Amino acid sequence: MTPRTRLFYLESMTNPLVRIGDLPAVAEFARERNLVSVIDNTFATPLAFRPLRHGFDLVVHSATKYLNGHSDLIAGALMGTAARVREAKHMLDHLGGSLDPHACFLLQRGLKTLGVRFRQQCATALQIAQFLEKHRAVERVNHPGLPSHRKHGRARRSSRSSAPCSASSPRAGVAAAERMFSRLKLPLHAPSLGGPETLVTRPAASSHSGLSPEDRARIGITDALVRVSVGLEAPEDLIEDFDQAAQLAPAAAGGLGAMLGKQSLHRRSLLRSQGGDVVLDRHDQLLAAAKSVRHGQQRLRRLHQPLGRAGGR
Ligand SMILES: Cc1ncc(COP(=O)(O)O)c(C=O)c1O
Repeated sequence: MTPRTRLFYLESMTNPLVRIGDLPAVAEFARERNLVSVIDNTFATPLAFRPLRHGFDLVVHSATKYLNGHSDLIAGALMGTAARVREAKHMLDHLGGSLDPHACFLLQRGLKTLGVRFRQQCATALQIAQFLEKHRAVERVNHPGLPSHRKHGRARRSSRSSAPCSASSPRAGVAAAERMFSRLKLPLHAPSLGGPETLVTRPAASSHSGLSPEDRARIGITDALVRVSVGLEAPEDLIEDFDQAAQLAPAAAGGLGAMLGKQSLHRRSLLRSQGGDVVLDRHDQLLAAAKSVRHGQQRLRRLHQPLGRAGGR
């Protein structure tokens, strides 16, 4: 803090280590010093933590993430007293950012299922964290629902729900993390979070690549650290996939084929997590149809070959 400090900004659950500070104490600290307290509640969502009730002045959300929940728009939300929100809105009007009506419609629709999505994501994230914590290829797992987490007690007291993300360090370092990414069949290797797909990233190479290695080390972000933002797939499918991906073996083939395979597997797992079992989804049916068209064409070619030859003579 300096004499010019006017604002205190923090996250209710930090990215990527899912740490939870003594949030009411921070709000009080800011109030006593006449600082505006602003909290990013994106990871926690209002389901896990309600900052205004704990004395924060303003709450910001990336609505791109859990509030919308479908990885198909970019939006933000700001909550606070009418006077403070008006001030921010005034600035926003000058900057010109504005959501189009379709994005507003999607966001409103996504919000209707926030509760069921978030609860399932938190439950699955905890199961995966518990599994990875015992995995011999994994050195450490950060998830506030684990008793081994530094702030497990505080998380249980202050958060009404567990967390939908975790961060793990593979024992064998960066190469092992990269190998795991190439072997995972369900999760996508991509930044962002909060959608139906499980996403994995290496913060040292993405969100925190702007920090020096020393600064990253100081805040506990090792080069090999892997953040897992859990989606809505069946937990047993994800656990099986993380288990096979963490094994030491040559990398699987990537490319478009692997991508199409991932989408199909992901849809199957979404169905399974909602009680459906091996139902061929439309994408599988289309692939099956494309295959049978190819077979048909090959058969036709074979049938026509002798005629073609005969005609050529
Ligand atoms: C905690 C948190 N807040 C804010 C943002 C910014 O979100 P947006 O992509 O909506 O600009 C992100 C993006 O990853 C985030 O993780």
